[in-house]
Amino acid sequence: MLKKEEIINLLQTDDEPALLKRADEVRHQYVGDEVHLRGLIEFSNICRNNCLYCGIRKANKNAHRYRMSEEELIDTARKASDMGFKTIVMQSGEDMYYNTLRMCHIIESIKKFDVAITLSIGERSYDDYKAFKNAGADRYLMRIETTDKDLYHKLNPNMSWDKRHECLLMIKELGYELGSGIMVGLPEQSLESIAGDLLYLQKIGIDMAGIGPFIPHQDTPLKNEQGGTLSLALRTMAVMRILMKDINIPATTAMESLHPKGRIMALQAGANVVMPNVTEGEYRKFYELYPGKICVNEQPLQCRTCIGIKIQSIGRKIGLGYGGHNGKLPIMPQENRYKPL
Ligand code: 5AD
Ligand code: FES
Repeated sequence: MLKKEEIINLLQTDDEPALLKRADEVRHQYVGDEVHLRGLIEFSNICRNNCLYCGIRKANKNAHRYRMSEEELIDTARKASDMGFKTIVMQSGEDMYYNTLRMCHIIESIKKFDVAITLSIGERSYDDYKAFKNAGADRYLMRIETTDKDLYHKLNPNMSWDKRHECLLMIKELGYELGSGIMVGLPEQSLESIAGDLLYLQKIGIDMAGIGPFIPHQDTPLKNEQGGTLSLALRTMAVMRILMKDINIPATTAMESLHPKGRIMALQAGANVVMPNVTEGEYRKFYELYPGKICVNEQPLQCRTCIGIKIQSIGRKIGLGYGGHNGKLPIMPQENRYKPL
């Protein structure tokens, strides 16, 4: 167990290579050398929210909006499964066209391809989360973004930090593997705040931690902000690995958007998961959360091949299983458990 002070000290270390190396050793010891691949489908960029940092925020009139049909989405998942992906991640803005019935039909159809299903579609009701789980969804990704509530409410107008926290607890309670995480380099975010974020993720007992740098988007109110650095993102991820030794940690796409070797650096600093994009055609270009996103001109097979070569080049192997979090599940304090009304 690390204390907040110790985490802050690690985050501001003046021997960054030593910190990253230590995280790499913990990764090797606790989750081994396999890198688990998840095929990411960005199926709709229509969103009801207005997060100040996000390129697909509702108020961005420059975003070219799209929404895949159910058939298109299922077909994309089938092709990804044929390519060997054992996990399909379905991500979108908070697009309510995909109601309970439609989502359940999609999940049931994709489940037939013998894949683990991860959803990343934002805040929904308890009944929805339950229905999706019963339909076959295995995992859920939703970043808390920051645990500084004031900052959260400034960045996410009309949203509630407490509600998001509740959603994460519901998802966990329903038996999903829970992925959450944060952005680093947000305006006004301190190292102390990031340390608090990591302790929060540990406390709620996440199974996967996604950590990425904030990258300012030209069509958002935060366009003139500094943004996060790769160095801070790597250090934060490394400390997360040291804190929660056996969880899954992806080398995030945003890291590679800041540096051509971003994901490889992450895989050598605690990460053990990569989520190659399997979205087809022009859609991936339109799913622009931040500028400079990688792989917008590639197609699914190109990304699968590219990442396979990169992983092998650093002496690691591609995981053949579903790549779930197999470690002992952290015990959630009783007071944090979601209690259905
Ligand atoms: N820069 C980096 N990451 C971003 N996200 C959204 N907007 C940005 C941005 N401008 C991240 C959020 C969200 C995830 C899907 O993408 O953390 O949860
Ligand atoms: Fe898409 Fe390398 S992962 S081109």
